[in-house]
Parts: sequence; C-alpha cells; structure tokens
Amino acid sequence: MSPKRPSRYHLRPHRKGPPATVLEPGQTEYEFGIPIPGLIVPKEQWTQSALKRIPDAKPVDWNILFGRQAPLVVDIGCGNGRFTIADAVLRPDRNHLAIDSLPAVVRYGTRRANQRGLLHVRFAVVDGWRFLTELCADGSLAEIHIYHPQPYADPVTAARRMLTPEFIGWMYRKLIPEGKIFLQTDRKAYWEYLSGNLPGLFDWTSLDGDWNAEPEFRSRREILSRKQGLAIYRGQGIRRSGISTEQFDQLVAAMVQPTFAIDPNDA
Ligand SMILES: C[S@@+](CC[C@H](N)C(=O)[O-])C[C@H]1O[C@@H](n2cnc3c(N)ncnc32)[C@H](O)[C@@H]1O
Repeated sequence: MSPKRPSRYHLRPHRKGPPATVLEPGQTEYEFGIPIPGLIVPKEQWTQSALKRIPDAKPVDWNILFGRQAPLVVDIGCGNGRFTIADAVLRPDRNHLAIDSLPAVVRYGTRRANQRGLLHVRFAVVDGWRFLTELCADGSLAEIHIYHPQPYADPVTAARRMLTPEFIGWMYRKLIPEGKIFLQTDRKAYWEYLSGNLPGLFDWTSLDGDWNAEPEFRSRREILSRKQGLAIYRGQGIRRSGISTEQFDQLVAAMVQPTFAIDPNDA
C-alpha cells in the first residue's frame, strides 16, 4: 500500500518557532517573496504581544487586556498571523486578537507583532470554540475573520470542522449589532456550505474577486493556494438585526451540519 499523501493543509513541524533570521531595524520582512507589512523596530521598542495566560474572570474584558477601548477584531485559526499583522498595520484604531489552537504557528505571529512594536495586537493559543463560548461577552466583537478553516477532507475527520450551525450561532451572538464576519476558503464544498447556512443570520455577500487583493494582505494559506492555482472563495456577512430569540433558535436548527464531501484527490 502506498503511503497516504499528506493533506496540503498538513503543517510542517516548526517546533522551535520562527527561524532565527536576524532582521535589522527598518527592514521589510518577506515570506514567499511577499512583504509582511510593518517595519522592524529597534529591539528596545519590541512589544509583548503573546497572551500567555487567560485571565480568571470570564468573559474576559478585552479592553482591559489591550489597555484601551477600541473595536475588537478577531482572527480565529490565525495560523502564522500574516493577516492579523497586515490588518493591524493598516488599521491601528482597532484592537486585534489572533487565536489558534496550535502553539507552534502562534509563535510566528507573536514574534512578528513584537518585532514591529505593535501595541494593539495580541496572539493567544486558544481554541475557537472556547473563545466564543467562554472568553468573550455577547455583543462584544466588531469583526470575526476566519481564513481557510481546516477542511478535514477525510470523511473520518469531517466531524471536526469548526463552522457548524452552533458555531455560526455563537459568532452571531458575540458580534456587536451590525458586526461583521469575513470567511474565506479554497474549498468549493465548504464555500457552498457556508453560503447556504449563513444568510439567515447574516446579510451575506460573496466578495469573490472584489476585495483588497494586495498580496501583502493575503493569509499564508491564501498565498499558497493561489500558487497552486486554486480558486479563492471569500464572503462578508453583516449581523442581521431584529431577530428574536425564537427566530434565532429556529434559524440555527434549520442549518445543516458540515458533513459535505470533499474530493480526496484535492486534499
Ligand atoms: C489551514 S490553516 C489556515 C491558517 C491561516 N488562517 C491562513 O489562512 O493562513 C487552519 C488553522 O486553523 C487552526 N485551527 C483549526 N481548528 C481550530 C480551532 N478549533 N480553534 C482555533 N484554531 C483552529 C489550525 O491550527 C490552523 O493553524
């Protein structure tokens, strides 16, 4: 039997964190030949963006953690944090929180935010489910970004897909009125699933080919997917208002579970 081809989502082991490339102050950093926004600052100006310990009091008061009151933008499953770094440099008036369940990838984002002296960014090793259900208050998030959620193409692992009806319901509950979600995938089946389930709770628009496509604002996965010639599906949802608790329950109950099949040859 030939060995199973690893999923293209398989993350190479990088247990030691980012390579010890020495970056000089004022230097631009590149990954795949694409600049990562923000200039490297002198070491004495580096910040501490790692959130190593979640406060005991739940839900967390994120304004206190950031040391200022500002709209909170969350990147769930941030990977190496490319999107959050770029967005934080572009929009310094927001607080940016990037979370991922995998410590190794979070270390990349943390180091990059530190080296750029970013004070309004935090990276944390936190599961997306735990974040929404336990760590943030209802009506507290301005934006939720999820780029390339793990597709779990193997039917055996499909039950681990993050964006279930319940998860979608939690995103709705945690957003401020008219708060926004931004979701992106290179899997047509995942995209069709999302486009079928989201419009009840969100005013959902496909942004396919119609968003800020400057290469430095792409996530790592998007850069890799584009290199492979894959289509990128992206949408924006604005939280609908005027939905009663009863309607909310009905809308979530009417959504289908993410049991869609993904062609294993494309995994
Ligand atoms: C395919 S990668 C995409 C990373 C990044 N968003 C990008 O586009 O480059 C999916 C990421 O989601 C993370 N992830 C998967 N399930 C998660 C969960 N339940 N909570 C938080 N992160 C999760 C994985 O560790 C991985 O880093």
